[in-house]
Amino acid sequence: MDLHIYKSNKNKNISGTVKVSGAKNSAVAIIPACLLTDEQVILENIPDITDVRNLIKIITDMGHFISFENNILSFKRNSKAKYHFKDSINKLRGSYYLIGSYLGYRKKIFFHQCGGCNIGSRPINYHQNGFKLLNVKIKETKKGTLYQAKKLLGNLIKLDFPSVGATINIMLASVLAKGNTIIENAAIEPEVTDVANFLIKMGAYITGVGTNRLVISGTNKLHGTRYRIISDRIEAATYLALGCINDNQPVTITNIDPTLLTSFIDTLKAIGHIVTINNNSITALKGKTLSPVAIKTAIYPGFSTDLGPIITPLLTQIEGTSTLTETIFERRFNHIGDLNKMGADITISENTIIINGNTPLTGSKVTCQDLRGGASLLIAAIIAKNHTIIRNADIIKRGYEKPIAKLKNLNIVASIN
Ligand code: EPZ
Repeated sequence: MDLHIYKSNKNKNISGTVKVSGAKNSAVAIIPACLLTDEQVILENIPDITDVRNLIKIITDMGHFISFENNILSFKRNSKAKYHFKDSINKLRGSYYLIGSYLGYRKKIFFHQCGGCNIGSRPINYHQNGFKLLNVKIKETKKGTLYQAKKLLGNLIKLDFPSVGATINIMLASVLAKGNTIIENAAIEPEVTDVANFLIKMGAYITGVGTNRLVISGTNKLHGTRYRIISDRIEAATYLALGCINDNQPVTITNIDPTLLTSFIDTLKAIGHIVTINNNSITALKGKTLSPVAIKTAIYPGFSTDLGPIITPLLTQIEGTSTLTETIFERRFNHIGDLNKMGADITISENTIIINGNTPLTGSKVTCQDLRGGASLLIAAIIAKNHTIIRNADIIKRGYEKPIAKLKNLNIVASIN
């Protein structure tokens, strides 16, 4: 599937408003978490993206009941459902939350290798170490891995790294365990807090939410609820970046809590861009005088690893040398070759990219290799003169809802086919 970004006089005034969708990285955890109750759960602000559609298919193939339309998802567990998953599970990284959910729900799951962007080895050892401390036995077989526990027992779990996935998965497996579970060095990303708040709304006992020490007191049963997930801070930043391309066309994003984007907004301001914040909207406009910056990605609330690819095209348009050092994943620079093909001047030195600006960008045929790398190429294509074709653009639809319609709101002419 190719994404075409057309350059026409219309693209000269990139401006308008985009409504941010629900957070992908909350949705892929909270949907499986619905398995922890036999009562109906209604979820709001669920983004209609491929990762969500694939996850729904995996879970309904198991026999559970899910309906999903107009960003509202209704979930009802089926006690007769299976615990074996088919191979569709390797389409997304977030499928691994089915392990924690199924352990919490029926203490047993047979699971294939999960998928996810090609941005590093992406092991799940922190998750598995946590499950073992909860009294789960793990048996690797040629076809996949069997996770099983006679009884889930709370325990003290000290994470070697504040892993988002491991923190969430251990929470899912421990809310119905016997006794208390303490997760030390827990991740504090907003999506982790969102999952904890959802579980609490279902009747779980979790304290320390938003801190790196979570205490989960196991309970016997969780009940149904209605819950609205947070909006997607990475999607928000992606569209906000488009306001920094021209100095007379602002872009406003709505349906977003600005405090989720503090480090990204601070960085845009440090460059010299103009960012104004209202209650649940943010407006960005290219500044008159721009300065290069040195960015280092970090765990929340630092500069998110997912936003490195998003800010890079903007850095190519700044006079001088900017640097971006990636500290979370090993392979986060898949898109740099194609940015250089479009005219950027970026060199890679270990886990740092050196961006020499100001380089005009020219449309080209490029290839999306991972979700945020694809978003990077999209932003570069909107900056560039003339037409760009982004191949494998279906990867972008994994994490961005209705991108063509949202770009159209900003007078950006694009098509995907
Ligand atoms: C989540 O990935 C997000 N994905 C990622 O977003 C995000 O970049 C990342 O958190 C960091 O914020 C989802 O939520 C589905 P980690 P996750 O566990 O959970 C290593 C996007 O574009 N690690 O915090 O996989 C791992 O390899 C995606 O939306 C282990 O070594 O991130 C990485 O180097 C990309 N063993 C580091 O820790 C483990 O068991 C951080 O991983 C787990 C992780």
